[in-house]
Amino acid sequence: MGGRGRSALETARPGPIEMITMASGCGGAASRRSFSVVRIGRFVRQWEASRETGLDSAVVFWEDVCAMRWIPASVCVLAVAGALAQDVPAGVVSAFEPGAVWRDDHGVHVNAHGGGILYEQGMYYWYGEHKVAGAAGNYAQVGVHCYSSRDLLNWRDEGIALAVSDDPESPIARGCILERPKVVKCPATGKYVMWFHLELKGKGYSSALSGVAVADGPTGPFRFMRAGRINPGKWPLNLPEEEQRVELSPVMPVLTRSAYREGDDRLAFLRRDWAGGQMARDMTIFVDDDGTAYHIYASEENSTLHIAELTTDYTAHTGRYVRLFPGRFHEAPAICKRGGRYYMVTSGCTGWAPNAARSMVADAMLGEWRELGNPCVGEGAERTFGAQGTFILPVQGRPDTYIFMADAWRPANAIDGRYVWLPLQFTEDGALRLEMCKSWTLDDD
Ligand code: DGJ
Repeated sequence: MGGRGRSALETARPGPIEMITMASGCGGAASRRSFSVVRIGRFVRQWEASRETGLDSAVVFWEDVCAMRWIPASVCVLAVAGALAQDVPAGVVSAFEPGAVWRDDHGVHVNAHGGGILYEQGMYYWYGEHKVAGAAGNYAQVGVHCYSSRDLLNWRDEGIALAVSDDPESPIARGCILERPKVVKCPATGKYVMWFHLELKGKGYSSALSGVAVADGPTGPFRFMRAGRINPGKWPLNLPEEEQRVELSPVMPVLTRSAYREGDDRLAFLRRDWAGGQMARDMTIFVDDDGTAYHIYASEENSTLHIAELTTDYTAHTGRYVRLFPGRFHEAPAICKRGGRYYMVTSGCTGWAPNAARSMVADAMLGEWRELGNPCVGEGAERTFGAQGTFILPVQGRPDTYIFMADAWRPANAIDGRYVWLPLQFTEDGALRLEMCKSWTLDDD
């Protein structure tokens, strides 16, 4: 881990205890005298800040160490090398352990919930919601966290890729709801494009917006571009022409899953939102082999999935989209392609509580999709093993190896949410299969 031509300082951050031991050790009696309690306290605070805010604070911390003239430089360099050697936990994580605490290179539980992964040049980048402690963590207090890894097990903290704004007027003001970020690299522009589900601060889940941000490098910083509803004034490609009219039902269906029954007007929300743009909540992004990117999201008050094509720069929608499974209330779409076919895993809609996963297949992204049923088997299958999907990762260099990534949410203490990553299996009869494993590796049979 930690290659990519970075300096030793950038590839590891020793803990406060090591730094204090190191400093007092290399300074001898004189240094111990000047190493006051105040200084130790400041070091610890700087170290804690560096864990929250990333490399910049770590560098400030290091500069502060160097500024202590009483440390002979040569001894200090040796001590740093020793501390780094002890502290870089390369290869520390040797297996996927679904539901367990997953420590990053700082020894801190990975903070990237509802996430997705980008692969580029031997490196995986994991982006997800940074959650804080308590129920406040269900709102975006920090932004989107990024980690990098070459082996998918040991993750280096790359800091906050997209920060929420301190401007209360910003759509991504601190305290908004910013969920399920996904990043793709655009071949046409060379930019990294992040899409996410956005709910404006103080408005609960009523906004149902999609946000987009762009960066020059995989770890950011991502610059927020805009947020909005999707494809205003456009009808889905698979809606018959005779149905393409704006008209509000005399009685709008109640906005709950149980009230949305057979016989309800399943076009009511689509028509209501035609002029202003369609709703989008849980979402993912998928890039096809030909470079076309698609946004897959829960729309129409979560009742219906949409798949919408993105423009060639990946930052907008082309107006071409389809709606799938009206009235089935799917959430948490995750998608992959295998052998020319498209597979999707979703969940039902039960808030933070787990429910049974669902799966579907199609021969074309904007084509006909067919439901395959719950892919989970064994104990916990009816609740997706306590989790909800977020992404399907094709593992590079291992044909036919896909990882289903899911979140075991902990809404009362959001930061403690766990990750359930499982091998996604394809059965001989063309279905998907997920089995819980306590511990597994990519080399298992
Ligand atoms: C389930 C969704 O999948 C999550 O992303 C989140 O929006 C919760 N619902 C909120 O209840």
